[in-house]
Amino acid sequence: MGPRVKFLSGEQGIAEAAAMLRDGMLVAFGTETVYGLGGDATNAQAVARIFTAKGRPQFNPLICHYASGTDAFADVIPNAAAQHLAAQFWPGPLTLVLPRRAGSAVQLLAGAGLDTLAVRVPAAPPARALLAQTGRPIAAPSANRSGSVSPTDATHVVAELAGRIDAVIDFGPCIVGLESTVLDLSGERPVLLRPGGIPAAAIIAAIGPITHSDASTALRAPGMLRSHYAPSLPVRLGATSAAPDEALLAFGRVELPSPVMWNLSETADVTEAAARLFAGLRYLDSAGRTAGLRGIAAMPVPETGLGIAVNDRLRRAAAPREG
Ligand code: TXA
Ligand code: MG
Repeated sequence: MGPRVKFLSGEQGIAEAAAMLRDGMLVAFGTETVYGLGGDATNAQAVARIFTAKGRPQFNPLICHYASGTDAFADVIPNAAAQHLAAQFWPGPLTLVLPRRAGSAVQLLAGAGLDTLAVRVPAAPPARALLAQTGRPIAAPSANRSGSVSPTDATHVVAELAGRIDAVIDFGPCIVGLESTVLDLSGERPVLLRPGGIPAAAIIAAIGPITHSDASTALRAPGMLRSHYAPSLPVRLGATSAAPDEALLAFGRVELPSPVMWNLSETADVTEAAARLFAGLRYLDSAGRTAGLRGIAAMPVPETGLGIAVNDRLRRAAAPREG
């Protein structure tokens, strides 16, 4: 039996991954946020295979990744706010939803048939090198099976997607550790669809007030299911300590250490907590199940900076499962 997924790394790996992507194959790669499951956004079959590989229950629109803002704005029409944000935050963990250009070669399926497209220029240098060498817009959802925790390490990708994708390129652990902020600039007012790597406060400082996504805008981010990022063990929020049959997702100094514990940040740093969140959920899920525990108790994280996105992901991890 051959390898179920090709494992690439280094300069040579980037060249090989770029060639595979141009051939329509699926290659997972690291960004500063999380690992993405990449495919050529202009290739119908590659885009369709992304949905199959993830097991997405419906066609959620995908983010297209580019080596530069100029490349991104060749597929969408930027307004003044988009130009401003791109100049300030790209490359970086910010995704902009904008009207797609009529001449764009991006497959309609990549945008789930919407007349908008989500675009982003990742900051991680190896990811930018890969995108530059590929020379195509790369559609890439997080490289996890639908509904589960996003991968922040190449080994997470192999664990979930071996046999479903062609290769994974190891770019090391993700620095930010949770997904990009998604901002919809296609309507009259900017709407925050998903809190993420760039805090909302920084966006407001740059372009003024933004609307936060609610039920009336929920349809614009069809990927934002309430239950998401879910480990298999149930998650209990707002815990001060773990019960004997619970694993503990800790934050800050802990008075009562638990046998199965992951501390997001002993120094109570929300940025460190963001970087360690998904790896921690994976660890506690697996170690907790091995130890026969019944759930994960999560200590509170402050609603400041990246703590807002951490809490968003924790609430989704704890939400009633939608199947
Ligand atoms: O950090 C990230 O954004 C990672 C890395 C790989 O770049 N990608 C990622 O992709 O998180 P994904 O597919 O897991 O999440 C994309 C989110 C979904 O909630 C989706 O509904 C939303 O972006 N989205 C994509 N295109 C959209 C569009 N045209 N309109 C509204 N929402 C859109
Ligand atoms: Mg995802």
